[in-house]
Amino acid sequence: MSIDQTLTSQERLADLDLQQLRQLVGLVEYDARSDPFPVKGWDALVWSVGNATQTALFYQIVFGMELIAYSGPETGNRDHQAYVLRSGAVQFVFKGGFDPKSPLLEHHRRHGDGVVDIALEVPDVDRCIQHARAQGATVVVEPHDIADEHGTVRMAAIATYGETRHTLIDRSRYTGPYLPGYVARTSGYAKPATEPKRIFQALDHVVGNVELGRMDEWVAFYNRVMGFTNMAEFVGEDIATDYSALMSKVVASGNHRVKFPLNEPAAGKKRSQIDEYLDFYDGPGAQHLALATNDILRTVDSLRAKGIEFLATPDSYYSDPELRARIGEVRVPIEELQSRGILVDRDEDGYLLQIFTKPLGDRPTVFFEFIERHGSLGFGIGNFKALFEAIEREQAKRGNF
Ligand SMILES: [Fe+2]
Repeated sequence: MSIDQTLTSQERLADLDLQQLRQLVGLVEYDARSDPFPVKGWDALVWSVGNATQTALFYQIVFGMELIAYSGPETGNRDHQAYVLRSGAVQFVFKGGFDPKSPLLEHHRRHGDGVVDIALEVPDVDRCIQHARAQGATVVVEPHDIADEHGTVRMAAIATYGETRHTLIDRSRYTGPYLPGYVARTSGYAKPATEPKRIFQALDHVVGNVELGRMDEWVAFYNRVMGFTNMAEFVGEDIATDYSALMSKVVASGNHRVKFPLNEPAAGKKRSQIDEYLDFYDGPGAQHLALATNDILRTVDSLRAKGIEFLATPDSYYSDPELRARIGEVRVPIEELQSRGILVDRDEDGYLLQIFTKPLGDRPTVFFEFIERHGSLGFGIGNFKALFEAIEREQAKRGNF
């Protein structure tokens, strides 16, 4: 079997190796030769935000990310400002329109701050687009080359749920800081020496919230168009509280770097958190981004010291004898997890530690998960109930429950 052992451009820049990625994000070996749509891994998450200049500073100061590239009027961009930030293999691009006619502003007016593009690195853009088109995908940008003094990238884009897209990028002939049109840029902000170098190393998964009754259609889309396989299935009962419920299925790329849980609302006594998202995002979109860390305690301490708020986990979660028996031994005393509100889940492969922030924008839409995996390839299904009850308490405070 020929196994894809290559790192993505971002992983190489972050000095990560395959062993670390197996632990961080559950990377698996697979045979890329039979894959109709080979994906190397994540390229970048591109956001449309109300103020890219300030957002870029927030993610440097609070999330410890590093500014690496920029596009704006000084570089000939007459439409928007864009800042490229990096932490480990994670790359975020924040765009804010300044031309009143910028399509980014229209997107932002409708959806608020959110992810417009989940860009993926692929070895062969044309092969992917040919397959995607044959399977009925909407090609929103045809394959083309763009070049500057650092080389050439080949890229194209296909539409996915809502107004979200997947740009497909082949960077094998390019050495610039991000893409042609961007210049390298560093920040005047100097991270205090007492702070960790990075508080997260890799992107684990991106969850999409889709329309009621359409989850299976989107699962089929990723199966058919992108050759993704189904990883785990959570349906109905598993993740229902007394009041609200959702259905969720997970698809993944062959090497499991790219994992997309897809949620749809399910009937409950009250509106589910997915309904709230769909109302406030005005349609389907990316709900939470899970960032992998190898020290979740330090990550949470660093973020909390900067004012980031996490979903509260009830003390009863930690004193529940059933939970204690199920999770067994983990790397730190349970009191260390309890004092930070970190959740634990275990399956046949190992365990994971996870925690969820509250939404970081003005709308109750996008939020983050931090995850530290120890063999488990799951998503914390055992925590869903405890977690959703916590989410519902927040939803009720906002009067949307
Ligand atoms: Fe998650």
